[in-house]
Amino acid sequence: MLKVRGLFKSFGPPGGKITVLRGVDLSLEKGDIAALMGPSGVGKSTLLHLVAGLEPPDSGEVEVGGRALGTIAGEELDSFRNRAIGIVYQHHYLLPEFTALENVMVPTLKSGPAVDGRRKAAELLEAVGLKDRLGHFPSQLSGGEQQRVSLARALVMSPRLVLADEPTGDLDETTSDMVFDLIFSLSRARGITLLMATHNVRLAEKCDRIMRLHGGRIE
Ligand SMILES: Nc1ncnc2c1ncn2[C@@H]1O[C@H](COP(=O)(O)OP(=O)(O)OP(=O)(O)O)[C@@H](O)[C@H]1O
Ligand SMILES: [Mg+2]
Repeated sequence: MLKVRGLFKSFGPPGGKITVLRGVDLSLEKGDIAALMGPSGVGKSTLLHLVAGLEPPDSGEVEVGGRALGTIAGEELDSFRNRAIGIVYQHHYLLPEFTALENVMVPTLKSGPAVDGRRKAAELLEAVGLKDRLGHFPSQLSGGEQQRVSLARALVMSPRLVLADEPTGDLDETTSDMVFDLIFSLSRARGITLLMATHNVRLAEKCDRIMRLHGGRIE
C-alpha cells in the first residue's frame, strides 16, 4: 500500500542547509497500523508531508497504492490525494464558519454527484459519536470533539491510506485515548493502512509496528 524508497529532504539555502531525511525506506502493507516515533525535530512531520505528496522530496520515491507520486502532476496529484489519502493533524484545521457536517463534507465537494457526501458525512459523524452535533460549529465543540470531526473528514472519501500527525497531541489523556481508539478501530474495520506520528509510547505500543526515525533514517 505504501512504499518509500531512499527519501532525502533538506531545507534552507545551500551552505546553511539542513538535511532532515537521509535515505528513508519503509513499506506498509494494506491494513498495517504503524506508529512513527522520534524526538522533536527529527523529521516526522516532514516525512508525512512527503508521503502525502504535499511537498516533493529532493530524491527518492513514494508509492501509494502502486502509484509513484513523483509521476503525478499538479492538479491530478491533488485529486489523487483527495481520493486516496486521509490526513489528520494535531491542530484539526476545521473551517470555523462551517458546521461539523459541512466540514466533513468538504473533501466530497470536488468529486461530483458520484459521492453522496452529506449521507457519508452524517454516517461518519455518527461513527465517531457525534450524531447530535452535526449542526455545531467548531467553536461550539470540545477539543476532542473537534478532533473527531477532523477524523471523520479524513475518512469521508474512503481513503486506503491515513496519515496522522500527532492526532492526539492537543488532548488530555482520557480524550486522547478515546480519539486514538476511534482512529485505531475505524482503520481496522475498514482495512485502512495507518501511519501515525506520535510521542505517546503507550498509544504507539498498541499499533502493529513502531518505526523510529533517527539520524534521517528509519531504524
Ligand atoms: N519548511 C521548512 N523550512 C526549513 N526548515 C524546516 C521546514 N520544515 C521543517 N524544517 C526543519 O526540519 C526539521 C524536522 O522538522 P519536523 O517538523 O519534520 O520535525 P518533527 O519530527 O515532526 O518534530 P515534532 O515532534 O516537534 O513535531 C526541523 O529541524 C525543522 O526546523
Ligand atoms: Mg511534527
